[in-house]
Amino acid sequence: MTACRYRCRPLISLKWDNVSKTTIILEAGDEAAQVAIGRQLADALEYRGIVYLNGELGAGKTTLTRGVLRALGHDGAVKSPTYTLVEPYNLDGGRVYHFDLYRLADPEELEFLGARDMFADESLTLVEWPIRGEGWLPAADVVITLSLIEQGRRLVLESGSDHGARALTRLAVSSQDIS
Ligand SMILES: Nc1ncnc2c1ncn2[C@@H]1O[C@H](COP(=O)(O)OP(=O)(O)O)[C@@H](O)[C@H]1O
Ligand SMILES: [Mg+2]
Repeated sequence: MTACRYRCRPLISLKWDNVSKTTIILEAGDEAAQVAIGRQLADALEYRGIVYLNGELGAGKTTLTRGVLRALGHDGAVKSPTYTLVEPYNLDGGRVYHFDLYRLADPEELEFLGARDMFADESLTLVEWPIRGEGWLPAADVVITLSLIEQGRRLVLESGSDHGARALTRLAVSSQDIS
């Protein structure tokens, strides 16, 4: 897979502490690398789990989500569901829910949308702006914090469950091939 046009530092650290929390830091030198990491994240999670995406507007949350969706067979466009809050995808590889809570005023809106059932589903669920749903959202398997760097984006990925920790350990290995 050719993905990194400029620089891609796949694995900086793999940290375990007494709660066996795994953290990996990746750098995506361009948009293609961001998409490639999303693909590998989906594979590493075996297409299920809950992923929080933190980071400012333009940090690359939706681009990463596009990579995840590509891994499950979605070839079309991916927009942040800023007004509808969630976009469901029924794909060959499984079900994906893409939330964007930027405009969420009250978590009660999530109840109206039936989001509780979506989270309970055997699906892969990505949540942009999880901070807006704090207190309502179920815990994440992986929490990703994205930021701009001189050349591309930095992604700090932290596990929130054993499933997430196993996925990040796999991703630490597979992402070394992105270059
Ligand atoms: N790793 C990257 N390097 C350079 N540009 C990127 C990278 N990832 C995403 N971008 C670009 O940043 C812009 C914003 O990305 P987007 O995914 O919409 O951000 P967000 O959803 O966090 O607001 C897009 O133009 C996208 O192409
Ligand atoms: Mg977005």
